[in-house]
Amino acid sequence: MDVHVADHPLIAHKLTYLRDKRTDSPTFRRLAEELMTLLAYEATREVRVEPFQIETPVTATTGIKLSNPKPLVVPILRAGLGMLEGMVRLLPSAEVGFLGMQRNEVTLEAVTYANRLPDDLTGRQVFVLDPMLATGGSMSDAIHFLIDRGADDITAVCLLAAPEGIAHLEESLASTNVPVRVVTGAVDERLNEKGYIVPGLGDAGDRLYGTVD
Ligand code: PRP
Ligand code: URA
Repeated sequence: MDVHVADHPLIAHKLTYLRDKRTDSPTFRRLAEELMTLLAYEATREVRVEPFQIETPVTATTGIKLSNPKPLVVPILRAGLGMLEGMVRLLPSAEVGFLGMQRNEVTLEAVTYANRLPDDLTGRQVFVLDPMLATGGSMSDAIHFLIDRGADDITAVCLLAAPEGIAHLEESLASTNVPVRVVTGAVDERLNEKGYIVPGLGDAGDRLYGTVD
């Protein structure tokens, strides 16, 4: 599994404001979207393309275009929804599927409560969006679900990751041949006793959309 930490001053700048507890929800949503657009540039380095013949006003030449089938973008609800616009701005022709997952705050295990995805993902390149890779349980379950449906190339895009989550993901994917890469804005220090990323940014879903309970 490849892990790419997007090292760019604009990414670090936007992440700092996301981390700041004084940042309100509207600003947090805007920053998450902007940050995703920057991460999308890194995350799509391996997007599948094919040669494309065109004529410029001067001569015939060969360019490239996105291959078919188009990539599938899968935000993990709720918080991954805050990254969707930033991603499809760069990949407007991508299809979008949804996975709803919630982490049990006591056991820290992820429960899948919704999925709206094509049944057959054979040969599909998939970009999974979730701002937080904490224990890695949600992302690991999501990736296995996609691989079971046939996805054959997966990029997980996160705003923040914990070393524990990366290690868990690596271990849980050890027996698969499907290439998986993680693109993240930063790898933080650790998880705390409640499974939150430290220093982190708190509960991403709550900061985007407010508390639900
Ligand atoms: C958060 C976050 C990830 C998950 C990460 O979602 O958006 O999906 O926790 O934790 P993990 O790596 O330990 O699995 P949450 O369950 O809070 O749901 P929400 O997006 O609806 O707020
Ligand atoms: N989920 C979040 O939203 N934040 C964390 O720090 C960990 C899991």
